[in-house]
Amino acid sequence: MAHLLVSNARLVNEGEIREADVLIEDDRITRIDASIAVPDGADVIDAAGKYLLPGMIDDQVHFREPGMTHKGDLATESAAAAAGGITSFMDMPNVNPQTTTRTALADKYAVAEGRCTANYGFYFGATNGNIEEVKALEVGEACGIKAFMGASTGDMLVDDPEVLERMFEHAPIMVVTHCEHSPTIWDNEAKARAKYGEQVPFSEHPKIRSAAACLASSTLAVDLARRHDALLHILHLTTAIEMDLFSKAHRSEKRITAEVCVHHLWFDESSYEQLGSKIKCNPAIKRAADRKALVAALNEGRIDIIATDHAPHTASEKAASYFEAPAGLPLVQHAMLTLFDLVADGQINIELLVDRVSHAPADLFGITERGYVREGYFADLVIVDPAMPYTVSKNNLLSKCQWSPFEGHQFSASIDTTIVNGQVVFRDGKLTGHIAGRRMEFTRAR
Ligand code: DOR
Repeated sequence: MAHLLVSNARLVNEGEIREADVLIEDDRITRIDASIAVPDGADVIDAAGKYLLPGMIDDQVHFREPGMTHKGDLATESAAAAAGGITSFMDMPNVNPQTTTRTALADKYAVAEGRCTANYGFYFGATNGNIEEVKALEVGEACGIKAFMGASTGDMLVDDPEVLERMFEHAPIMVVTHCEHSPTIWDNEAKARAKYGEQVPFSEHPKIRSAAACLASSTLAVDLARRHDALLHILHLTTAIEMDLFSKAHRSEKRITAEVCVHHLWFDESSYEQLGSKIKCNPAIKRAADRKALVAALNEGRIDIIATDHAPHTASEKAASYFEAPAGLPLVQHAMLTLFDLVADGQINIELLVDRVSHAPADLFGITERGYVREGYFADLVIVDPAMPYTVSKNNLLSKCQWSPFEGHQFSASIDTTIVNGQVVFRDGKLTGHIAGRRMEFTRAR
């Protein structure tokens, strides 16, 4: 049996920080104690002065496989994720072919096997035409049902009112939604075209993909979920005005939950001037006041999960004009570091960070034996060095698209080590090459 001892760590878990040693045997955590003697033949990682956390479970990524693998694929992006302290990811269905049949879903799992550095789960995509497949889904088959209630990358808009009613009525598992009201956006696009022609400045994006468009759609989603008592998780919230839709209650008491993404916690509209297309994403990055409201909502418990919405596109695709440039940015490698900067800046605390990136996704999606540092659980862990700054540059980027909105930025902390199912997958600034990811088990029924 392979033994690995992580010693002298500052363990952050379940709302507290304490000095601890953690023993791993094969793929499991077998002991957590103040001091553990080194077993014969064990490997030891001395984590003195560093934080040990459960790895991030990213509930929203676009790794682009199948069909768009020139932007990214399950192997490259899961490796970048692991280098960023993400030990599990849940991938979206806007690929090609779209994951909108149970056969396509099974095919995607088959393609992933043996190629992912981090653990994986896949969403089933709802459309205006596949309600029977949605109804037939079994618990565990997908992590959730993704409904684009606003059009975005991939032509998957679900806007038929009757289909939406039936989906919320019958969804056997959680519905996760992208909420932006497309007719409002189309109207705003027409106005921008009339004013600027094709050369719309990227700074117009939050006016086109407006707060009103977000609120109209998220209000509809909440209304549908309430009337049908469905489980609803609204993805990537971006505005202050939507925050009243969400309760401050603990997630164990809620059927409607909320997610925020790291780029919406980090950037605001003042960044368009410098970064332009690089930070074009849907929903749009909005005002500084919105960013502040998102941080406040996170601290109050209205927002339950922090994710990335990692959405790589090539640099040349992003170099196009406003209407042509695709929305989305690569984030998995640096998401945890952005959050540690927010911690260093006093905006959130580290116990809350761990709750929102690890514990909450494990609970809300019913993921078996992950998301916590507990004896008997899978050893999915990350060691973060808060005293070792990390500068993003072209030569340390791992996503296939090879660019980042953070190039040149120095983060205050760095990822020291990532462990997936007991295997060290990232250490000393390098991937070790272990392809340790496994399919996750999802157990939550509606
Ligand atoms: O910015 C985004 N990019 N938002 C989405 O909803 C989709 C994503 C993508 O797939 O590129």
